[in-house]
Amino acid sequence: MTTTHKTFLGYVLISSLVVNAFEPITTTVVAGASGAAAIAAGRKIYNYFFESCDSKWIAFNSTGLEVDLYQKLFGQHVVSSVVLKAITGFKKTENPKKPLVLSLHGWTGTGKNYVSQLIAENVYKKGMASSFIHQFVATAHFPHQSQIENYKSQLQHWIKGNVTNCPQSMFIFDEMDKMHPGLIDSIKPYLDYYEKLDGVSYRQAIFIFLSNSGGEDITQVALDFWREGKNREEIKLKDLETALSLSVFNNKQGGFWHASLIDKNLVDFFIPFLPLEYKHLVQCGMAEMAAKGLEPNYALADQVARDMIYFPKNENIFSVKGCKTISSKLDLYRDHA
Ligand SMILES: Nc1ncnc2c1ncn2[C@@H]1O[C@H](COP(=O)(O)OP(=O)(O)OP(=O)(O)O)[C@@H](O)[C@H]1O
Ligand SMILES: [Mg+2]
Repeated sequence: MTTTHKTFLGYVLISSLVVNAFEPITTTVVAGASGAAAIAAGRKIYNYFFESCDSKWIAFNSTGLEVDLYQKLFGQHVVSSVVLKAITGFKKTENPKKPLVLSLHGWTGTGKNYVSQLIAENVYKKGMASSFIHQFVATAHFPHQSQIENYKSQLQHWIKGNVTNCPQSMFIFDEMDKMHPGLIDSIKPYLDYYEKLDGVSYRQAIFIFLSNSGGEDITQVALDFWREGKNREEIKLKDLETALSLSVFNNKQGGFWHASLIDKNLVDFFIPFLPLEYKHLVQCGMAEMAAKGLEPNYALADQVARDMIYFPKNENIFSVKGCKTISSKLDLYRDHA
């Protein structure tokens, strides 16, 4: 995890300290040149090396995102098209009326975190390592029910402090279905259509929610298509929307948070991830080898994919773990080759 474990308020304090600490040094280094020019030069050098909230460090690459979504993300044609539309539309809008809120749903290992990473890499020069991206994992960051009031105020301070520092901040909430409803309520104002809240505008921020809720219903749709002999690529967003909204409203576990956000139309896009098949796992294996700088070895990718577990029983179509564990399995198989 990258930015996740920064202490909440510590970050805001540290980043302002760094800026303050740095400026006197640059001014000293360039002493001799005229004052204003020296400071400008110092800032330029600073800006070159240190991530700041400007177009040098935050610049949307729409072609890059399109290429990544269609070439690096496997088996998710609906996700690729919706995410591209959502991000491009939002980034093209000069004065968005609200922050962009995406809710990513689906079976484990199908690419939800991976898509967040692809978005990050095409918006922030430093990708997921950007200090303007903040990732929260419900069970890791907000584990104790008794601490809910503390978490609420910390989270609100954290969001407000960071958006004040950089309006184009991105917040990723993982395991959204395991977040305490009170905590979700506490972030709702930031997702809304307000021009400003206490003098701060949240309209350029991006919020991404990840969860497994809806995963089973999405899988059922994919299974129905398969059983009817239809092509997976024929599945349209509207085929999945019904499945999603059913689980959104009826699912005891994950339903509550959705309902409270849907009521006010705070989520702009619900994005359904399909379960992955054998051929996608082979693709994941090949991509993983390339990422590790290894010679492509189709036989090995095929072996790893074949040894994964699939469901439903007898039909064996979808991978139980998606592409998760492909990377570690590859290492294991290579070590024992
Ligand atoms: N559709 C996909 N295309 C390409 N690679 C994928 C895909 N899905 C998963 N992967 C690979 O598998 C890894 C694990 O996937 P990821 O963490 O995105 O799953 P997830 O949907 O967030 O699962 P979970 O619900 O368990 O959190 C990714 O880092 C990526 O390397
Ligand atoms: Mg995940």
